[in-house]
Amino acid sequence: MESSGEAVSTLVDHVDPVVDAARAEPFESPERYAEVIEEIRSAAATYYGGSDLAMDDATYDALMARVTATEAAFPEWKAADSPTEVVAAGAAVVGDVVHSSPMLSLDNVFDEDGLRKWAARLDKLLGRPAGGYTVEPKIDGLAIAARYVDGVLTQVATRGDGRAGEDVTGQARRAAGLPERLGEPLTLEVRGEVFMTDDDFAKAQVMRTGTGEPPFAHPRSAAAGTLRAQDRTYDAPLSFLAYSVHGLDLGEPVAHSAAMAHMETLGVTTTTASPVGAVCATVDEIVAAVEVINTKRGSLGYGVDGAVIKADQPADRDAAGSSSRAPRWGVAYKFPADTRTTKLLRIDVQVGRTGVITPVAVLEAVQVGGVTVTSATLHNFGDLVRRNVWPGDTVFVRRAGDVIPEITGAKLDERPADAVAFEPPTHCPRCGGEIDRSQKRWRCTQGRACGARESLAYYAARDSMDIEGLGDKIIDLVVAAGLVTDPADLYDLDVEALVKLDRMGETSAGKLVANIAASTSQPLSRVLTGLGVRMTGRSMSRRLARHFGTMDALTTAGVEDLQQVEGVGPERAVTIHAELVDLAPVITKLRERGVNMAEPGVKEWTPGATEAAEENGTTDGGAPVLPLRKADGKPMTVVVTGSVPGLTRNEGNEAVELLGGKSSGSVSARTDLVVVGDGAGSKADKAESLGVRIMPADRFAELLAAHRAGDAATVAEILAVP
Ligand code: IVH
Repeated sequence: MESSGEAVSTLVDHVDPVVDAARAEPFESPERYAEVIEEIRSAAATYYGGSDLAMDDATYDALMARVTATEAAFPEWKAADSPTEVVAAGAAVVGDVVHSSPMLSLDNVFDEDGLRKWAARLDKLLGRPAGGYTVEPKIDGLAIAARYVDGVLTQVATRGDGRAGEDVTGQARRAAGLPERLGEPLTLEVRGEVFMTDDDFAKAQVMRTGTGEPPFAHPRSAAAGTLRAQDRTYDAPLSFLAYSVHGLDLGEPVAHSAAMAHMETLGVTTTTASPVGAVCATVDEIVAAVEVINTKRGSLGYGVDGAVIKADQPADRDAAGSSSRAPRWGVAYKFPADTRTTKLLRIDVQVGRTGVITPVAVLEAVQVGGVTVTSATLHNFGDLVRRNVWPGDTVFVRRAGDVIPEITGAKLDERPADAVAFEPPTHCPRCGGEIDRSQKRWRCTQGRACGARESLAYYAARDSMDIEGLGDKIIDLVVAAGLVTDPADLYDLDVEALVKLDRMGETSAGKLVANIAASTSQPLSRVLTGLGVRMTGRSMSRRLARHFGTMDALTTAGVEDLQQVEGVGPERAVTIHAELVDLAPVITKLRERGVNMAEPGVKEWTPGATEAAEENGTTDGGAPVLPLRKADGKPMTVVVTGSVPGLTRNEGNEAVELLGGKSSGSVSARTDLVVVGDGAGSKADKAESLGVRIMPADRFAELLAAHRAGDAATVAEILAVP
């Protein structure tokens, strides 16, 4: 494993994620320079326009650094409208709200050396040491200017091109931290960043995909989409942190930190007063404060892509002044994306529910940004070829602001002699059909119908929704007839449509429709199993259902909330979360068709319930009294061996969990109870030899029936038998 510094110094086929403008290489020709300026302009337009990312931040910064270096080396090539001269290069959405003063940008530094140089330059400009600094988180959101008249919020505009922006007053009013009324009737302008917290982002994804729209790429695009959604009603929550105020009259000029502290008293949240904001007297203190932000950025619950360092005193700011693009009294310290190296074991090809075909890297486990990573996205096949990544290579894995790790390139000098280039698939690996390669993202030409047979069979299976009569043959027929492409379509089938199929009589069609209808009352755990959420099986589905209680609670839970469930680590949580977002349209359809979305006997989880439950010693968010719980409230470990009357093996395990226990497959000294039925073998003997409590299977069936009937006396009686 290597640190990011070492990693990028070797021969690589990618853009270095960490860039220092002073060390960046000029472009070799005026043509290449002009080309890159165009690329930057179009990426910036996408970025400021709020759409999905066209270029990641590190690549953007690397190109900007090279443009700056080129202009220093060949001033005669410099374009009059160079992105180094204008704020928001290529910003597309300008609008007609003219700013009271230009909304400037910030220059960047990328390491301690760059930071110290900036501070020395500021001291030199002032002719004396600066009188203190603020260090603030750099929020990864969208800049806005908010005007208050007599304490009332009257107009909010985006930055636009820095001179004028778009009116977003309506949507911005909903941002937490930007109050409708200030605590005093003041007339002033607050500037700051509108963003979406990680948890709100999760909610926004569910809402958006529920309406059939594609998911947002990133919390910033979600914030931008929500802020500018004039014709749509998005309830997705927004947040705001102010980083400057104009026109606040406190009698005499006050320090930036004092002005921001005053804004907090008026009800506006600020970056300076955030948990990681600091006021520093020396550069050493700044370095330490930046490090604190870098260390804590992963746990703030919102995207922070750097620190902003500003002279705190108004006199220092006035003396230092600004260029047309950025102030000289402030600088952004951009954090590098965490990059590590590991071995690319193989490249799998995945076919998504909509038929999108993507290469997925399977990696030797590596820690990146505090998380163990075993797989990473390779975006698309073109990208894979461009990055020149082969199985067996040592590759760079990066986790930037967001959670999904990506491969940025390979160490070509370490490529094994026997390595073989990856061959993209010629046909859909799932159905063998044609691939549509007209877009960057390849698709199976069957679209949603590809894989429909598989997912329907899984949905109907005995351990899932248990729909009798819906076997492979019928599934083939309804799919081929175009009647069904996802599980929710099953509920639209009627006798009239079914009898038209080969060898389907009216009686069997009627039975099938009734069986499908009956499955609407299956518990949430089975609905989840049936949906085939990646990285979950039957028992994980049960755990999720028992923890969250309802589909609503589960789909609004954030990645961190999911990790409260036993056996769900960061990687699995990210996958489950992404899967649920992906499944949102089908879930909505199922709900509309009356499919039950709750787990019987389990109280719905709400954010914060886990913490409360932990304090109370229960972990089910307040579930009712359960027979298979120990005195300390923890689940008993129960092994079911042999058959339980009326139940399959899976149903036996389900019953254990319904009764509050944890089902296990093997008997040990830690087992609390073994349920022994007909056909039990060595497990029963082992339980006996270990002195583990044994319950006959018929008693267990009675216990289950009594619990379901709410017959507490019988439950107590059965449990009382040693
Ligand atoms: S101060 C004149 N402080 O970063 C300087 N900006 O890359 C005004 N940003 O345009 C900016 N957090 O949109 C400042 N604590 C912070 C910030 C911050 C995020 C954004 C802002 C700015 C951009 C510059």
